Amino acid sequence: MSELTIGEKDFLLDGEPYQILSGALHYFRVHPDLWADRIHKARLMGLNTIETYVPWNAHSPSRGEFVTEGGLDLERFLKLVAAEGMHAIVRPGPYICAEWSNGGLPPWLLRIPGIGLRRSEPQYLEAVTEYLESVYRIVAPLQIDRGGPVFLVQIENEYGAYGSDKEYLAELARVTREAGITVPLNTIDQPQPDMLADGSLPGLHMTASFGSRSTERFRTLREFQPTGPLMCMEFWNGWFDSWGFHHHTTTVEDSDTALDEILSAGGSVNFYMFHGGTNFGMTNGANDKGAYVPLVTSYDYDAPLDEAGNPTAKYHAFRKTIAKYAPVPDEVPAEATPAPGFSVVFTEKAGLLGSVGSLGEPVAADVAPTYEELGQDTGFVLYETSIEGRAPGVLVIEEEVRDRAYVYIDGVPVGVMARDAHERAIRLPLAGSTLSILVEDQGRVNYGERLGEAKGLIGPAWLNGEKLLGWTARPLDVDLLPSLDLSGRMTDNGPTVLAAEFELDAPSDLFLTTDDMGKGLAWINGFNLGRYWRKGPTQTLYVPGPVTRAGKNRLVVLELEAMVDDDAASFVDGLRLGQTEF
Ligand code: GLA
Repeated sequence: MSELTIGEKDFLLDGEPYQILSGALHYFRVHPDLWADRIHKARLMGLNTIETYVPWNAHSPSRGEFVTEGGLDLERFLKLVAAEGMHAIVRPGPYICAEWSNGGLPPWLLRIPGIGLRRSEPQYLEAVTEYLESVYRIVAPLQIDRGGPVFLVQIENEYGAYGSDKEYLAELARVTREAGITVPLNTIDQPQPDMLADGSLPGLHMTASFGSRSTERFRTLREFQPTGPLMCMEFWNGWFDSWGFHHHTTTVEDSDTALDEILSAGGSVNFYMFHGGTNFGMTNGANDKGAYVPLVTSYDYDAPLDEAGNPTAKYHAFRKTIAKYAPVPDEVPAEATPAPGFSVVFTEKAGLLGSVGSLGEPVAADVAPTYEELGQDTGFVLYETSIEGRAPGVLVIEEEVRDRAYVYIDGVPVGVMARDAHERAIRLPLAGSTLSILVEDQGRVNYGERLGEAKGLIGPAWLNGEKLLGWTARPLDVDLLPSLDLSGRMTDNGPTVLAAEFELDAPSDLFLTTDDMGKGLAWINGFNLGRYWRKGPTQTLYVPGPVTRAGKNRLVVLELEAMVDDDAASFVDGLRLGQTEF
């Protein structure tokens, strides 16, 4: 059986120097029927290893649960890596950042009074231990010394950018060893002296994250770790996109130069991302460095394989550069073929507000409860209260709206309060009897201080200086919308659910265009493709082929605002990721 060890200046695989050429591929962002294809394409680029994070919140929707079905079958994913003859790196967090909602921390943690996230606080550590034990039950038997692919496991993630609690890191390492993990353990940090100092722990191998100036970054890493292999555990060959900003790219030349510097220094690398995939459903994270900026559905990342799994110019350039240092298979993956382009007609329409009875039960409370108080992890909550006999005026939410609140009086839309614009007041132009506020969690912050905050209407609501009491709050399970019979339901003046059927000759990747839609979500055959927003940059939602079928298919859209044309939708032949910076 094999083993990986940390040598004087190299990783050693069974005693021989080994350059890790790894690609990040998040199984939870790729349809499981496509895992094998993406892994194979990684090997064809010359990679010998696949790296993945593990998202705690996806595996554990509630405490004690550890879901491993379908797209969360980590064991199957790792076995596919092994079947391709590749090694694996596993990064289970518990915090993973990754532009993933709450950096992977499950929202139920936030309901534990006094919990301390990402530090050695006993309640948090107890929950983390349960989680890590579940992950390692899968990973331990798949380690390299037992004939499996896993040869490196990471502790936490860029911890030096967040805290300096060494006891916490030590406890994570202890739990990891206790659970039977015998391969080397690593940490990762941005190559800045304070972060490397705070995020590291003796006995754990230090790695760095960067996308340029590789020689200089490795020099900084060396200062902190005089011996052992140099590894860029996240080689940022692209970047993520945020709603309302341009589509980020890095040039092939710049990325390729930075790669060459890593490899010529004898360094090991993990391409972040090799293939980014998609934030399906409502899984995207957000940033907040003074302003809330949610992340888009596509996690294309301008990576070597694009969002739909097709090779890009970067793929071919990297393959060539890797070939200077390591054997690369002759086989080259096929180029993208255009997907079918066609239009569909919406034949069913219903008002969301009139359909909420089928989506969740109301809870009564004096002050509007948060999502966490309601046990709602994400998505939407409809808050309602009586304003009977009150004069029109200004509605104020005392602390913050998280994250976007659509306001209605007796079903008539009167405006929006948006956290990304720091809005928490709105003028109500009408009197009426029922005030309804539909709140959307647009993604939990995944980096920095605002990690782990509550969602919903935060703080009491005031109308003309008087506190509004007597609320009902209805958590909505919008994933039930595709299975609702919309026929006979009425449309109204609020958000709309639309459905269209279409035929395909064979399953196929599709690209739904969203630039003429407002803001909302879309499903194909019940599979939640993710959010769209006319703000862009992204103008398509990617439909993985395996969710489509030969014969009849059904598109369902939840439009929260307004479409240019609400009679039809169209599919185009490929990804449209939006305007890049000039
Ligand atoms: C850091 C994190 C990753 C990811 C990247 C940006 O390196 O470790 O999880 O968030 O930034 O894409």
